[in-house]
Amino acid sequence: RIVYVNGEWKPEAEATISVFDRGLLFADAIYEVTAVINRKLIDYSGHTARLKRSLEALGIPSPVSDDELLDLHRQIIERNDLESGLIYLQISRGAADRDFLFADGMKPSIIMFTQKKNVLENPKWETGLSVVTVPEGRWANRQIKTVQLLYSSMMKTEAAKAGADDVFLVEDGLITEASSSNVHIVTKDGVLVTRHLSNALLHGITRASVLSLAQGSDLEVEERAFSVAEVLSAAEVFITSASAFVMPVVRVDGRSIGDGKPGPVSRKLLQTYIQDRL
Ligand code: PDD
Repeated sequence: RIVYVNGEWKPEAEATISVFDRGLLFADAIYEVTAVINRKLIDYSGHTARLKRSLEALGIPSPVSDDELLDLHRQIIERNDLESGLIYLQISRGAADRDFLFADGMKPSIIMFTQKKNVLENPKWETGLSVVTVPEGRWANRQIKTVQLLYSSMMKTEAAKAGADDVFLVEDGLITEASSSNVHIVTKDGVLVTRHLSNALLHGITRASVLSLAQGSDLEVEERAFSVAEVLSAAEVFITSASAFVMPVVRVDGRSIGDGKPGPVSRKLLQTYIQDRL
Protein backbone atom coordinates (compact mmCIF):
# COMPACT_ATOMS: atom_id res chain seq x y z
CA ARG A 1 0.00 0.00 0.00
CA ILE A 2 0.95 3.62 -0.48
CA VAL A 3 0.25 5.52 2.71
CA TYR A 4 0.29 9.22 3.54
CA VAL A 5 2.40 10.55 6.43
CA ASN A 6 2.83 14.24 7.15
CA GLY A 7 2.94 15.50 3.60
CA GLU A 8 4.59 12.48 2.00
CA TRP A 9 3.39 9.46 0.06
CA LYS A 10 5.36 6.36 1.05
CA PRO A 11 5.23 2.60 0.59
CA GLU A 12 3.80 1.38 3.92
CA ALA A 13 7.10 -0.23 5.00
CA GLU A 14 8.94 3.08 4.69
CA ALA A 15 6.46 5.30 6.49
CA THR A 16 7.52 6.49 9.96
CA ILE A 17 6.08 8.51 12.81
CA SER A 18 7.82 9.94 15.88
CA VAL A 19 7.86 7.85 19.08
CA PHE A 20 6.98 11.13 20.82
CA ASP A 21 3.79 11.54 18.83
CA ARG A 22 1.01 12.36 21.29
CA GLY A 23 -1.30 10.08 19.38
CA LEU A 24 0.91 7.22 20.50
CA LEU A 25 1.66 8.41 24.06
CA PHE A 26 -1.67 9.95 25.08
CA ALA A 27 -4.20 8.78 22.48
CA ASP A 28 -4.27 12.55 21.80
CA ALA A 29 -5.66 12.06 18.30
CA ILE A 30 -8.87 11.82 16.35
CA TYR A 31 -9.78 9.76 13.31
CA GLU A 32 -12.29 9.04 10.59
CA VAL A 33 -13.10 5.94 8.56
CA THR A 34 -14.78 6.56 5.20
CA ALA A 35 -16.04 3.86 2.85
CA VAL A 36 -15.24 3.81 -0.86
CA ILE A 37 -17.44 2.03 -3.41
CA ASN A 38 -16.62 2.11 -7.13
CA ARG A 39 -13.96 4.74 -6.30
CA LYS A 40 -16.65 6.98 -4.84
CA LEU A 41 -16.41 8.37 -1.29
CA ILE A 42 -19.47 7.46 0.80
CA ASP A 43 -20.96 10.16 3.11
CA TYR A 44 -17.77 12.23 2.71
CA SER A 45 -19.30 15.54 3.83
CA GLY A 46 -20.58 14.00 7.08
CA HIS A 47 -17.19 12.48 7.87
CA THR A 48 -15.25 15.71 7.23
CA ALA A 49 -17.76 17.77 9.23
CA ARG A 50 -17.31 15.42 12.20
CA LEU A 51 -13.52 15.46 11.73
CA LYS A 52 -13.60 19.23 12.18
CA ARG A 53 -15.85 18.98 15.26
CA SER A 54 -13.48 16.43 16.83
CA LEU A 55 -10.41 18.60 16.09
CA GLU A 56 -12.12 21.65 17.52
CA ALA A 57 -13.17 19.77 20.67
CA LEU A 58 -9.52 18.90 21.35
CA GLY A 59 -8.14 22.26 20.18
CA ILE A 60 -6.02 20.68 17.46
CA PRO A 61 -5.63 23.04 14.47
CA SER A 62 -6.46 21.37 11.16
CA PRO A 63 -3.21 20.61 9.30
CA VAL A 64 -5.05 20.68 5.95
CA SER A 65 -7.64 22.86 4.21
CA ASP A 66 -10.96 21.44 2.98
CA ASP A 67 -9.65 21.33 -0.60
CA GLU A 68 -6.42 19.60 0.45
CA LEU A 69 -8.39 17.06 2.46
CA LEU A 70 -10.56 16.14 -0.50
CA ASP A 71 -7.49 16.01 -2.74
CA LEU A 72 -5.75 13.63 -0.29
CA HIS A 73 -8.78 11.33 -0.34
CA ARG A 74 -8.88 11.36 -4.15
CA GLN A 75 -5.13 10.75 -4.38
CA ILE A 76 -5.08 7.86 -1.93
CA ILE A 77 -7.82 6.15 -3.98
CA GLU A 78 -5.79 6.66 -7.18
CA ARG A 79 -2.40 5.70 -5.76
CA ASN A 80 -3.78 2.48 -4.27
CA ASP A 81 -6.15 1.69 -7.11
CA LEU A 82 -8.88 1.47 -4.46
CA GLU A 83 -12.01 0.26 -6.20
CA SER A 84 -13.78 -0.63 -2.96
CA GLY A 85 -12.78 -0.48 0.71
CA LEU A 86 -12.04 1.95 3.53
CA ILE A 87 -9.93 5.06 4.01
CA TYR A 88 -8.53 5.63 7.51
CA LEU A 89 -7.41 9.14 8.45
CA GLN A 90 -5.86 10.07 11.80
CA ILE A 91 -4.73 13.46 13.05
CA SER A 92 -2.81 13.77 16.31
CA ARG A 93 -1.72 16.88 18.17
CA GLY A 94 1.82 16.09 16.99
CA ALA A 95 5.15 15.20 18.58
CA ALA A 96 6.61 16.93 21.65
CA ASP A 97 8.65 15.95 24.70
CA ARG A 98 6.34 13.88 26.92
CA ASP A 99 4.23 16.16 29.10
CA PHE A 100 0.61 15.94 30.23
CA LEU A 101 0.17 19.62 29.36
CA PHE A 102 -0.63 20.44 25.77
CA ALA A 103 2.30 22.43 24.37
CA ASP A 104 1.61 25.60 22.39
CA GLY A 105 2.20 25.84 18.66
CA MET A 106 2.47 22.12 17.97
CA LYS A 107 2.40 20.80 14.43
CA PRO A 108 -0.32 18.18 14.11
CA SER A 109 0.60 14.93 12.41
CA ILE A 110 -1.59 13.29 9.86
CA ILE A 111 -1.59 9.72 8.58
CA MET A 112 -3.81 8.03 6.03
CA PHE A 113 -4.05 4.49 4.70
CA THR A 114 -6.50 2.35 2.76
CA GLN A 115 -8.00 -1.08 3.42
CA LYS A 116 -9.08 -2.92 0.30
CA LYS A 117 -12.23 -4.93 0.79
CA ASN A 118 -15.46 -5.57 -0.98
CA VAL A 119 -17.72 -3.57 1.32
CA LEU A 120 -20.69 -4.44 -0.91
CA GLU A 121 -20.37 -8.11 -0.07
CA ASN A 122 -20.63 -8.88 3.62
CA PRO A 123 -21.66 -12.48 4.40
CA LYS A 124 -22.76 -11.34 7.87
CA TRP A 125 -25.57 -9.30 6.32
CA GLU A 126 -27.24 -12.65 5.58
CA THR A 127 -26.75 -14.29 8.98
CA GLY A 128 -26.70 -11.27 11.31
CA LEU A 129 -24.40 -10.81 14.31
CA SER A 130 -24.34 -12.32 17.77
CA VAL A 131 -23.46 -9.79 20.51
CA VAL A 132 -23.04 -9.72 24.29
CA THR A 133 -23.73 -6.80 26.64
CA VAL A 134 -20.87 -5.44 28.76
CA PRO A 135 -20.59 -2.45 31.14
CA GLU A 136 -19.85 0.90 29.45
CA GLY A 137 -16.24 1.58 30.42
CA ARG A 138 -15.20 4.25 27.96
CA TRP A 139 -14.63 7.90 28.79
CA ALA A 140 -17.36 10.52 29.10
CA ASN A 141 -16.92 12.41 25.81
CA ARG A 142 -17.74 9.76 23.27
CA GLN A 143 -19.10 12.28 20.77
CA ILE A 144 -15.47 13.12 19.93
CA LYS A 145 -14.08 10.52 17.54
CA THR A 146 -10.85 9.97 19.49
CA VAL A 147 -8.50 7.01 19.13
CA GLN A 148 -9.10 5.88 22.74
CA LEU A 149 -10.29 2.49 21.58
CA LEU A 150 -8.58 0.29 24.15
CA TYR A 151 -11.66 -0.60 26.19
CA SER A 152 -13.78 -1.32 23.11
CA SER A 153 -10.98 -3.39 21.65
CA MET A 154 -10.57 -5.38 24.92
CA MET A 155 -14.29 -6.08 25.22
CA LYS A 156 -14.69 -7.09 21.58
CA THR A 157 -11.72 -9.46 21.85
CA GLU A 158 -13.21 -11.08 24.97
CA ALA A 159 -16.57 -11.44 23.25
CA ALA A 160 -14.92 -13.02 20.22
CA LYS A 161 -13.24 -15.58 22.48
CA ALA A 162 -16.71 -16.43 23.82
CA GLY A 163 -18.05 -16.85 20.27
CA ALA A 164 -19.85 -13.51 19.81
CA ASP A 165 -19.26 -10.98 17.01
CA ASP A 166 -19.51 -7.78 19.03
CA VAL A 167 -20.53 -6.13 22.30
CA PHE A 168 -23.26 -3.70 23.33
CA LEU A 169 -22.02 -1.24 25.95
CA VAL A 170 -24.48 -0.66 28.80
CA GLU A 171 -24.67 2.33 31.14
CA ASP A 172 -27.40 2.57 33.82
CA GLY A 173 -29.24 -0.31 32.14
CA LEU A 174 -29.33 1.59 28.83
CA ILE A 175 -27.43 0.78 25.64
CA THR A 176 -24.93 3.41 24.49
CA GLU A 177 -23.25 1.81 21.43
CA ALA A 178 -21.60 -1.30 20.06
CA SER A 179 -17.76 -1.40 20.00
CA SER A 180 -17.54 0.67 16.80
CA SER A 181 -21.06 1.33 15.62
CA ASN A 182 -24.42 2.78 16.67
CA VAL A 183 -27.23 0.51 17.89
CA HIS A 184 -30.88 0.67 16.78
CA ILE A 185 -33.98 -1.39 17.48
CA VAL A 186 -37.28 -1.86 15.68
CA THR A 187 -40.05 -2.45 18.22
CA LYS A 188 -42.83 -4.98 17.73
CA ASP A 189 -45.02 -1.95 16.80
CA GLY A 190 -42.64 -1.17 13.94
CA VAL A 191 -41.02 1.93 15.48
CA LEU A 192 -37.32 2.51 14.83
CA VAL A 193 -35.78 3.54 18.16
CA THR A 194 -32.26 4.94 18.36
CA ARG A 195 -30.50 6.70 21.20
CA HIS A 196 -30.68 10.52 21.06
CA LEU A 197 -27.43 12.40 20.45
CA SER A 198 -25.40 13.40 23.52
CA ASN A 199 -21.87 12.91 24.82
CA ALA A 200 -22.82 9.30 25.67
CA LEU A 201 -22.25 8.17 22.09
CA LEU A 202 -20.48 8.92 18.84
CA HIS A 203 -22.69 10.84 16.44
CA GLY A 204 -22.58 8.28 13.65
CA ILE A 205 -22.57 9.58 10.09
CA THR A 206 -24.22 6.36 8.88
CA ARG A 207 -26.75 6.65 11.74
CA ALA A 208 -27.76 10.13 10.53
CA SER A 209 -28.00 9.00 6.89
CA VAL A 210 -30.05 5.91 7.72
CA LEU A 211 -32.40 7.88 10.00
CA SER A 212 -33.14 10.39 7.28
CA LEU A 213 -33.82 7.58 4.80
CA ALA A 214 -36.10 5.89 7.36
CA GLN A 215 -38.02 9.12 7.92
CA GLY A 216 -38.33 9.54 4.15
CA SER A 217 -39.85 6.08 3.87
CA ASP A 218 -42.56 6.76 6.47
CA LEU A 219 -40.98 4.60 9.13
CA GLU A 220 -41.77 6.04 12.56
CA VAL A 221 -38.55 7.09 14.32
CA GLU A 222 -38.04 7.78 18.03
CA GLU A 223 -34.75 9.18 19.30
CA ARG A 224 -34.41 8.11 22.94
CA ALA A 225 -32.35 5.83 25.11
CA PHE A 226 -33.49 2.19 25.33
CA SER A 227 -32.79 -0.63 27.77
CA VAL A 228 -31.30 -4.11 27.43
CA ALA A 229 -34.82 -5.47 28.10
CA GLU A 230 -36.18 -3.50 25.12
CA VAL A 231 -33.41 -4.91 22.94
CA LEU A 232 -34.28 -8.45 23.96
CA SER A 233 -37.99 -7.96 23.20
CA ALA A 234 -37.46 -6.00 19.94
CA ALA A 235 -38.64 -7.28 16.56
CA GLU A 236 -35.26 -6.33 15.04
CA VAL A 237 -31.91 -5.01 16.21
CA PHE A 238 -29.23 -3.58 13.92
CA ILE A 239 -26.04 -1.53 14.04
CA THR A 240 -24.73 1.13 11.66
CA SER A 241 -21.21 2.25 10.73
CA ALA A 242 -19.16 3.41 7.77
CA SER A 243 -17.67 -0.07 7.39
CA ALA A 244 -20.71 -2.37 7.87
CA PHE A 245 -23.44 0.10 6.76
CA VAL A 246 -26.59 -1.54 8.23
CA MET A 247 -25.81 -4.83 9.97
CA PRO A 248 -28.50 -7.01 11.59
CA VAL A 249 -27.95 -8.37 15.12
CA VAL A 250 -29.79 -11.64 15.72
CA ARG A 251 -28.49 -12.76 19.14
CA VAL A 252 -27.94 -10.73 22.28
CA ASP A 253 -26.57 -12.39 25.44
CA GLY A 254 -27.39 -15.78 23.93
CA ARG A 255 -31.06 -14.94 23.29
CA SER A 256 -32.60 -14.74 19.81
CA ILE A 257 -34.02 -11.43 18.58
CA GLY A 258 -37.36 -11.96 16.81
CA ASP A 259 -37.11 -15.20 14.85
CA GLY A 260 -33.32 -15.14 15.07
CA LYS A 261 -32.86 -14.01 11.47
CA PRO A 262 -32.15 -10.60 9.92
CA GLY A 263 -35.49 -8.77 9.72
CA PRO A 264 -37.21 -6.95 6.83
CA VAL A 265 -36.66 -3.39 8.12
CA SER A 266 -32.89 -3.89 8.51
CA ARG A 267 -32.69 -5.52 5.07
CA LYS A 268 -34.65 -2.72 3.45
CA LEU A 269 -32.58 0.01 5.13
CA LEU A 270 -29.34 -1.66 4.01
CA GLN A 271 -30.56 -1.81 0.40
CA THR A 272 -31.91 1.74 0.49
CA TYR A 273 -28.70 3.13 2.00
CA ILE A 274 -26.45 1.49 -0.57
CA GLN A 275 -28.68 2.42 -3.52
CA ASP A 276 -29.02 5.98 -2.29
CA ARG A 277 -25.28 6.48 -1.76
CA LEU A 278 -24.00 4.99 -5.02
N1 PDD B 1 -16.28 3.32 13.68
N2 PDD B 1 -19.71 4.42 17.30
C1 PDD B 1 -18.39 4.18 17.39
C2 PDD B 1 -17.78 4.03 18.74
C3 PDD B 1 -17.61 4.07 16.21
O1 PDD B 1 -16.29 3.82 16.31
C4 PDD B 1 -18.24 4.21 14.94
C5 PDD B 1 -17.47 4.10 13.64
C6 PDD B 1 -19.63 4.45 14.91
C7 PDD B 1 -20.38 4.65 13.61
O2 PDD B 1 -20.05 5.90 13.06
P1 PDD B 1 -20.04 6.13 11.47
O3 PDD B 1 -21.39 5.73 10.97
O4 PDD B 1 -19.80 7.58 11.33
O5 PDD B 1 -18.94 5.26 10.93
C8 PDD B 1 -20.32 4.56 16.10
C9 PDD B 1 -15.44 3.19 12.50
C10 PDD B 1 -16.18 2.58 11.34
C11 PDD B 1 -14.18 2.41 12.87
O6 PDD B 1 -13.68 2.67 13.96
O7 PDD B 1 -13.69 1.58 12.09
